[in-house]
Amino acid sequence: MKGTVLVTGGAGYIGSHACVELIEAGYSVVIVDNLNNSKHESVNRVTEITGKPIDFYPYDAREKQDLTEVFQHHSIDAVIHFAGLKAVGESAKIPAYYYDNNLNSTLILLEVMKEQNVNKLVFSSSATVYGEPSTVPISEDFPLSATNAYGRTKLFIEEILRDMANADKLNQVDSPLKIALLRYFNPVGAHKSGRIGEDPNGIPNNLMPYISQVAVGKLDKLSIFGNDYPTRDGTGVRDYIHVVDLAKGHVKAVDYLLHMDESKSECHAYNLGTGHGVSVLEMVNTFMQVTGQTIEYRFAERRPGDVAECYANPTKANNILKWHAEKNLEDMMRDTWRWQKNNPKGYED
Ligand code: NAD
Ligand code: UD1
Repeated sequence: MKGTVLVTGGAGYIGSHACVELIEAGYSVVIVDNLNNSKHESVNRVTEITGKPIDFYPYDAREKQDLTEVFQHHSIDAVIHFAGLKAVGESAKIPAYYYDNNLNSTLILLEVMKEQNVNKLVFSSSATVYGEPSTVPISEDFPLSATNAYGRTKLFIEEILRDMANADKLNQVDSPLKIALLRYFNPVGAHKSGRIGEDPNGIPNNLMPYISQVAVGKLDKLSIFGNDYPTRDGTGVRDYIHVVDLAKGHVKAVDYLLHMDESKSECHAYNLGTGHGVSVLEMVNTFMQVTGQTIEYRFAERRPGDVAECYANPTKANNILKWHAEKNLEDMMRDTWRWQKNNPKGYED
């Protein structure tokens, strides 16, 4: 066994895939998830895929006593903090809830980690911290900004984590914080088993689940938000990354932090993307080719807050974490469709 990783938000979309990859890489996994945007069934299915039991705690990461109990029951070597609320539109309507959940869960987690002498943390950040980038591809040293409350929670947490790591350096603590801020581009796809995948509540906001729900007959027609962007076909361009590649990036980040010199403090950001931009029309056409399904669509107004193009320069993660995205667009489409077709109602099936 390589070590034990506490995964907050491990019942969620990316967290459940990360648990599979961690277990397959030889880690044991403990999950804390209050199930506010997920189902316990995802944890059962991770166990089914890996054949390994998982310690699951249905706790809120803001509850200090509960979190302390978990650290006292397990010898935790590193933490991956996925737990958070992520809906951009909702964050504009109930920002206080977003700030409370996302910031306080991180602050409490840091407090408990300090008390329990755990100093390695991987944090789920987002390409949203680049705001409206002036050029593409985007490198980690680009200026940071946010265009909505959700994005600001990610930006603020990154700043807090940098301050905490710097404080450990200034105070010359024996085992200072070692932090990887992973900035995800657009996660899509599902595990190849078709047993775990993305299960959004209500009507999806994001492109990939919208397309797959049109294909399965849950939704009528896709609206493509804007066909007059200065891109190769006029539709928005993004860096779609297979969720299993993304999950493997977390394993690499944990490996990296666990092998660092114990006396060194560190807080670095890494882009997790493929480095390739794909347009909305290319996504729709590839989905149709790969799955044989027809996707009805119409062109609609641009969605406020959208940028024309957003894709990563992932060189830093390639070089330092020794991580590369391996799966292609066809894999993303095939795996999304297998999950959607086998689970038309998500985990309720
Ligand atoms: P998700 O909603 O599927 O997973 C998040 C999990 O955290 C859920 O299972 C939820 O129940 C849990 N959770 C939320 N608040 C909690 C709390 N206070 N205590 C305990 N559990 C809590 O989302 P996801 O897509 O898997 O995203 C995981 C992380 O990655 C989030 O922090 C999100 O902001 C970030 N992220 C996601 C994307 C994306 O496109 N999916 C992109 C960039 C960043
Ligand atoms: C969105 C969020 C971003 C968040 C990310 C992951 C916004 C403005 N941005 O990113 O903060 O980190 O999700 O959760 O909400 N599209 C359509 N029709 C649809 C849905 C999307 O044409 O029904 C287009 C969009 O205009 C965009 C592309 O598809 O060009 C991808 O959209 P989406 O999947 O929502 O991701 P982002 O906008 O990149």
